[in-house]
Amino acid sequence: MEQGSTLRKLTDDEKRRFYADGYVIVRQAVPKALVEAARNRIRGAERGENLWMDTALTDLVNRSDLTPVLNDALGRFDPPSACQVGILKRRDPGESFNNVGYRDCDMPYFGAELHMDGNITIRSPQEPMEGTPEEIYRRHIASGPLGDIGRSAEVLGHNHTPLFQDPEMTLSLGSFNAFLFVCLNDQTEEGRGQTMVLPRSHHASEQFFQWQRAQNGCIGPEGPGWSRLDTKAQNRCGMVYMPDTMRDAFTNADSLTTPDGRRWPKPTPVLMEPGDACIATYHILHSGSRNERGTESRKNIIFRIRNKSRQPGQVLTGISDHPDRGWSGEWLEYEPGNNPWERSKNAMCDQWAEWEGMAGAVAEGRKSAETAKA
Ligand SMILES: [Fe+2]
Repeated sequence: MEQGSTLRKLTDDEKRRFYADGYVIVRQAVPKALVEAARNRIRGAERGENLWMDTALTDLVNRSDLTPVLNDALGRFDPPSACQVGILKRRDPGESFNNVGYRDCDMPYFGAELHMDGNITIRSPQEPMEGTPEEIYRRHIASGPLGDIGRSAEVLGHNHTPLFQDPEMTLSLGSFNAFLFVCLNDQTEEGRGQTMVLPRSHHASEQFFQWQRAQNGCIGPEGPGWSRLDTKAQNRCGMVYMPDTMRDAFTNADSLTTPDGRRWPKPTPVLMEPGDACIATYHILHSGSRNERGTESRKNIIFRIRNKSRQPGQVLTGISDHPDRGWSGEWLEYEPGNNPWERSKNAMCDQWAEWEGMAGAVAEGRKSAETAKA
């Protein structure tokens, strides 16, 4: 915080919109001096240098309005010591297969691959796969960084995220509360690599998790109604980043399609200026997008924040989408009686329960949804 500034909070109206849409933009949340320091640090980085633990970047949260805003809306959290440095160079559409199994140039909406966080990603095969769906699954999980170790919770993706969070393989998504991204360049016009969000999808994903849990207790891909792989995609091996029922609920005759006629939900680019930041719920479908029209590389610094109350005994770095495990899938120690997977399932099925300062807006939003239904 800059000296002399008053503690900033979301207004009641911002909280109402955050509840309804699943994301909120906090304009000029970060002072210019911190934005410039972060930009200078990125500009001065050595080739290949990783800035994920650099204080010039973590200061964007730790020394800005974002800390009091989140303390008020969410509650207490560990100050981030790491971040995802989301830099996307300008580029034209390409021929390569993306993670959902389609050629980048065939994918509508600037190549958006809408997904929920906490999901494993194993690099997409660049030649179409052959064989039965079972053979493709087996070969694909064997192509991860740990090689062919069979189907288990030990399998990791190239994004460090485990195939399953728990040893019993009943939870295949990591979880947290706030997905936070700070803008460091001009992203006021579409096509500049913005993070895209699918407004209101956070309600649908929460309902879907509740439904999955009620079926057999398994949540995420490979649970009820959600396949892991899409063997009908162009390369026959796309990651299924959202359940089919959610994709169907957010598409209609106006939706753009891939050449096979499949409809894709139209996301909203989060238009921001340097110093703006967006807080989104963990539950929202979102994606990076192609920086086709930017004036420079797209620079978003991304944080994943969880209320300290979920696991008071663990210290989080602020980068991981699977904080119930270590960054490289290590098994963490929990005291007897503390089942981290059950706690996370509870939070995923009741997404606002841990947002301590949102209770009023949530009650109001739920009440008006009930009234509208009646
Ligand atoms: Fe993501």
